[in-house]
Amino acid sequence: MDKQRHLIVGYLLALARTEGEGISEAARALGLSRQGLHKALRKLRELGYVEEGPEIRLSERGRELLREALRDLMEYFGVSTIRLYGYVARGLGEGAFYVSLEGYRRQIEEKLGFTPYPGTLNVVLAPDALPYRRYLEALPGVLLKGFSDGVRTYGNVKAFKCTIFDMDCAVLVIERTHHGPEVVEVIAPVKLRDVYGLKDGDPVSIEVKLIS
Ligand code: CDP
Repeated sequence: MDKQRHLIVGYLLALARTEGEGISEAARALGLSRQGLHKALRKLRELGYVEEGPEIRLSERGRELLREALRDLMEYFGVSTIRLYGYVARGLGEGAFYVSLEGYRRQIEEKLGFTPYPGTLNVVLAPDALPYRRYLEALPGVLLKGFSDGVRTYGNVKAFKCTIFDMDCAVLVIERTHHGPEVVEVIAPVKLRDVYGLKDGDPVSIEVKLIS
């Protein structure tokens, strides 16, 4: 399978441009024979990279393979970090509760390498930084798996290692959240407000590692 990986990535990249189209239309767009495309699709479906159905649609497995390829490309081209600018804001006072949960805390220690201060620093992104947030949505990051404590369930949280004032921290991309896409939450081994004297409205620059 590994030997075929680059071929499959090539096919999936081409097919991604024809998602939602039928075979004939897609074959024309890609300059392939209908029969040739049909054969390739059958193989890719068998391997689980493409969904069943009359229209071309990558499966989650297919998209994951493209994400992996994107990571490889980003590494190759040296674009493995982005800088997000924003300002410090007050949150809803929930961060401390979530970060203190054993289910998340243990994973933060194992996967991100620090014991988090119980809370999250909310950062409102500058309008210029907003489009970059989509990178965080598209990339796999470090997955903090959701769990149940018997009473309720807690969702998956995606994290990216980052540095703020040279301190190793992490940015969280939370599935179930109350605020809009302009807010990111940061966890750190220390209380950032105290260590760096931050007040609401102060500017911060976050260097995010897109691939870990
Ligand atoms: O949600 P809210 O911002 O009200 O608070 P929290 O997540 O419970 O965190 C408590 C306080 O610590 C807030 O003022 C955060 O901004 C701050 N904090 C910090 O300075 N550094 C961290 N690593 C985490 C939280």
